[in-house]
Amino acid sequence: MITIALSKGRIFDDIQPLLKSAGIEVLDDPEKSRKLILDTNQLDVRVLLVRPTDVPTYVQYGGADMGVVGKDTLLESGTQGLYVPLDLQIAMCRISVAVRDGFDYTAAMRQGSRMTVATKYVAIARDFFASRGVHVDLIKLYGSMELAPLTGLADAIVDLVSTGNTLRANHLVEVERILDISSHLVVNQTALKLKQAPIRKIIDAFSAAVQTR
Ligand code: PRP
Repeated sequence: MITIALSKGRIFDDIQPLLKSAGIEVLDDPEKSRKLILDTNQLDVRVLLVRPTDVPTYVQYGGADMGVVGKDTLLESGTQGLYVPLDLQIAMCRISVAVRDGFDYTAAMRQGSRMTVATKYVAIARDFFASRGVHVDLIKLYGSMELAPLTGLADAIVDLVSTGNTLRANHLVEVERILDISSHLVVNQTALKLKQAPIRKIIDAFSAAVQTR
């Protein structure tokens, strides 16, 4: 049995053509069913639905043999115990700094000033502002980061931006791109040894599909 950990939403949708290239079709629709273990057309392949931040944990400890996870999550949680063979180039977005429309970000970034930054990506934000030599007070949030500058909780946020619609709808502006994000394939190192042939087959099919896109 090969178990693949995925998260619902964009990663689940974007991985379907790649799974198909490996001959795998998920039989349940996660938007309609409450099942967390989904069957596929292959009797020996199943899909687990987990939270995006839990994908590396499931794969690292062998709850799943492989998984698909955003680079944002990998940078925050680390890749200990994981083999990361492939950038799948799906669910593309970026991590950026955003502020309230009218906030003077350039002045706030001058050395000596101190900014409050709300984010789910504490490690990425800490490294970024440290590389600029700017002192920031970081506030950890778990979602709806856009609210922080609007309520006075923080001067800026560090968050994922895809279309930019969420920022625009909340009168925020993207002032700096920190890094580009895409989803990566992660594999449990022991599973790679014990189930080498079927796992290699999936990696190779994904790799070929990514290259021909
Ligand atoms: C992300 C991010 C933004 C939104 C950006 O949230 O936190 O809120 O997507 O996308 P856009 O630029 O296309 O509007 P997500 O939907 O992943 O949920 P989250 O709030 O749980 O992070």
